[in-house]
Amino acid sequence: MHKRRPISWLIPWIKNSSKVVASGDEYAVKIFNQYQKQQMPSFQLSDAEITSIISYVAAESDKPATAAAGGVTAENAGKVDGADGGAAAGAGTGNSTIDILLIVLVVVLLVLVVTLVIIANIMKDVLRGRKDLDGRDVEQLEQRFDFSKIYKSPVVRGLALGLFVLVVLYESVQGVMAIGLAQGYQPTQPIAFSHKLHAGENQINCSYCHTSVYKSKSANIPSANICMNCHSQIKTESPEIKKIYRAIERKQPIQWVRIHNLPDLAYFNHSQHTQVGGIECQTCHGPIQNMEVVYQYSPLTMGWCINCHRETPSTRRATATTTTS
Ligand code: HEC
Ligand code: HEC
Ligand code: HEC
Ligand code: HEC
Repeated sequence: MHKRRPISWLIPWIKNSSKVVASGDEYAVKIFNQYQKQQMPSFQLSDAEITSIISYVAAESDKPATAAAGGVTAENAGKVDGADGGAAAGAGTGNSTIDILLIVLVVVLLVLVVTLVIIANIMKDVLRGRKDLDGRDVEQLEQRFDFSKIYKSPVVRGLALGLFVLVVLYESVQGVMAIGLAQGYQPTQPIAFSHKLHAGENQINCSYCHTSVYKSKSANIPSANICMNCHSQIKTESPEIKKIYRAIERKQPIQWVRIHNLPDLAYFNHSQHTQVGGIECQTCHGPIQNMEVVYQYSPLTMGWCINCHRETPSTRRATATTTTS
């Protein structure tokens, strides 16, 4: 975090991130969109406090152990191979549970504090009713509970600062890890459609179903009518095939769960890669013809795109530069 942005940018950001986003700051808008438009809470801290937190984070992340955890760049993440995908996706589901647990913990703590204050007040009232207290007891009883004392206490301030640093560290590590999270994503589909059976054993061409993959930006998912080219004759009694008939009767498309999903700001074009670049589907999607259920094979990170562009000489890009010079 401290390496990506100067302190002069971080201070207004930490104080009120939505204000920076609203001001149209390019980087702020970018990360705001990248993190599903989640708003970061504003922090009531002085400039000096923020500066010291940042230098603390800087010192901490320069230590080897934390640097290893925080230093996973998009490019390193891009090198993660398919085998690690499952584990990464597993971590993804774990993260949201941790978030929920944290929220529950905070709520429970708040409820506890409020209950304690209420109980203390009730006990005071009870004690006030008693006649047999001596002078010192009464003095203690009437002592006002001073909130500013708690707020000013160095212990409490230290704890709050420590907690804040922990949250910032936790969130930034989360952010870095989230880049490759969808790799290995393999949702259950509404119909048990198998690429192994169709594209593998029966050798149906990918473009028989994904008709637009060589022609346009996106590859389409086939409509139920394409299934009917064969399944009006084949396996008509199968319960899975009957789901296709039902979708057609109800005039509703089959609700396939989308597996691959690039962030909106990345521009990816299939025909540019399959038709012009001549890249096999399997280079990016893995051995689809062996998959009973499709999963996301590649990390789809920026680092992944860039690595391949660096390694694959592009005839078109090369000629474009020579002809213009
Ligand atoms: C008989 C039709 C058919 C053939 C042939 C076929 N597919 Fe598919 N494909 C589908 C359907 C239906 C889905 C959506 C359900 C699913 O994900 O399994 C799909 C989904 C996919 C997805 C995931 C899309 C997403 O949601 O992100 C990829 C990638 C894919 N196919 C690649 C291929 C490749 C590569 C081939 C050739 C080796 C191929 N398909 C052959 C019908 C087909
Ligand atoms: C080009 C022909 C063709 C197309 C198009 C096609 N299939 Fe198939 N499908 C087959 C064949 C062949 C089988 C294997 C039948 C067998 O095992 O006897 C099959 C089997 C299946 C099965 C397994 C049925 C069972 O109970 O064993 C399902 C499910 C299925 N297809 C779904 C689909 C869906 C969904 C689509 C459209 C996205 C589709 N198919 C498109 C030829 C096709
Ligand atoms: C250079 C890598 C690359 C190649 C080669 C490639 N794909 Fe894709 N594919 C992607 C990416 C990236 C996405 C996600 C696109 C998005 O979310 O906008 C994707 C998504 C898809 C989808 C989901 C629908 C969509 O367009 O988002 C299908 C289906 C698909 N690919 C099929 C194919 C088939 C079939 C081939 C081969 C003819 C192929 N792809 C070749 C990278 C590739
Ligand atoms: C497996 C290799 C590979 C991967 C992965 C890949 N690309 Fe490409 N990409 C190519 C090649 C090769 C070309 C050049 C095609 C040509 O000859 O014009 C290309 C061309 C492009 C172009 C056309 C502009 C240009 O520089 O020629 C864009 C835009 C692009 N890729 C975006 C992406 C994005 C975004 C991703 C990641 C989601 C991605 N690519 C992933 C190989 C890849």
